[in-house]
Amino acid sequence: MATLFKNIKELLQVRTEPVKFVSGKEMNILPTIKDAYLLIENGLISDFGSMSDCPNSNFDEVIDCTGKMVMPSWCDSHTHLVYAGNRESEFVDRINGLTYEEIANRGGGILNSAKTLQETPEDDLYNQSKIRLEEIIKLGSGAVEIKSGYGLTLEAELKMLRVIKRLKENYSIEIKATFLGAHALPEEFKNTSDYIDYVIETILPIVAKENLAEYIDVFCETGYFSVEDTNRILQAGKQYELIPKIHVNQFTAIGGVQVGIKHKALSVDHLEEMRDEDIEVLINTETMPVALPGCSYFLSIPYTPARRIIDTGLPLALATDYNPGSAPSGNMNFVVSTACVKMKMTPEEAVNAATINGAYAMGLQGKVGSITKGKLANLIVTKPISSYGFISYAFGDNQIEKVYLSGKAV
Ligand code: NIG
Ligand code: FE
Repeated sequence: MATLFKNIKELLQVRTEPVKFVSGKEMNILPTIKDAYLLIENGLISDFGSMSDCPNSNFDEVIDCTGKMVMPSWCDSHTHLVYAGNRESEFVDRINGLTYEEIANRGGGILNSAKTLQETPEDDLYNQSKIRLEEIIKLGSGAVEIKSGYGLTLEAELKMLRVIKRLKENYSIEIKATFLGAHALPEEFKNTSDYIDYVIETILPIVAKENLAEYIDVFCETGYFSVEDTNRILQAGKQYELIPKIHVNQFTAIGGVQVGIKHKALSVDHLEEMRDEDIEVLINTETMPVALPGCSYFLSIPYTPARRIIDTGLPLALATDYNPGSAPSGNMNFVVSTACVKMKMTPEEAVNAATINGAYAMGLQGKVGSITKGKLANLIVTKPISSYGFISYAFGDNQIEKVYLSGKAV
């Protein structure tokens, strides 16, 4: 099966030589081909170039893209999109003056979501979650990471991870699963150290044995899990070859970035509160910093200092954090626009952060995130637009006309 996209106004994120990720000043360069063609064969990108070199054979399908852009799908490297119910009432509590912390201290927050999820049958959880997955596919995401962490018991954590596995089996979007047992301290446990024993001794071995996760996460934060707690979990995860991708520096900077680097985390995510030493320790590492502007927007907390991070020469990825408490939206178009408006990222930086760098933060840089021969044809075809900057400029909307997963229109 061969599909030719022709007369593409501009083909974005073209990487003839594959790159792992882009950092610093390179983030401000978005390689493109104007007046381009793109050839897809058997679900993979097989060729692309200028229309003047467009092959002239018989293709199964020819799609005329006059006026439209084609780009790789968004790569959303941090979500919690498997959850039950919602937390609308806490949203109203916050409007009326309570803080996220005050709500959590009253048994709301993550524990509220955990209670609902524990009571929700697995099929029900699957059906609620697949609606969100289908929604983000339509919004242009072609790869997504999904975390557990609203279970907090053996049974409920496994339920979440099995739902993620089922989504993986039934949808052609790329999905990576992360075990986030240490997301909050359940009421039944007196202290984090006892709960971490439970996570390490009771949950983790089964997660590993059933092959339910590739990554391991901890909410390293004041009032949640300390640097020492995080260290223990990441150490334990290593025995099962689970690579860390961790929540750090969301509300307070307590050394979470450092413990991530120590354990060679694939990514450190959130980073709203960054001291100079937290930025410096990332230099010359393979760890991707990940910003979640949807969370900053929804909780009215500071945005990740993208300029300081990129101007230091570091890479940065953008993700949604799609979850019921701090970011109830999986819209990468909004994330990309908000990164430009609020974090002063250029459209080029934002697209790099939301495609190739996001792919790296899921270990998928060889498969998605750029227009490169051999990569999956997970693509966005835009409506007719004036330039790619319009994607960030026209906030609250999206410029997507059609999305493709492995070369198939969704
Ligand atoms: O990434 N920070 C920790 N976890 C989620 C939010 C959890 C929730 O409020 O349900 C986050 O923001
Ligand atoms: Fe998160």
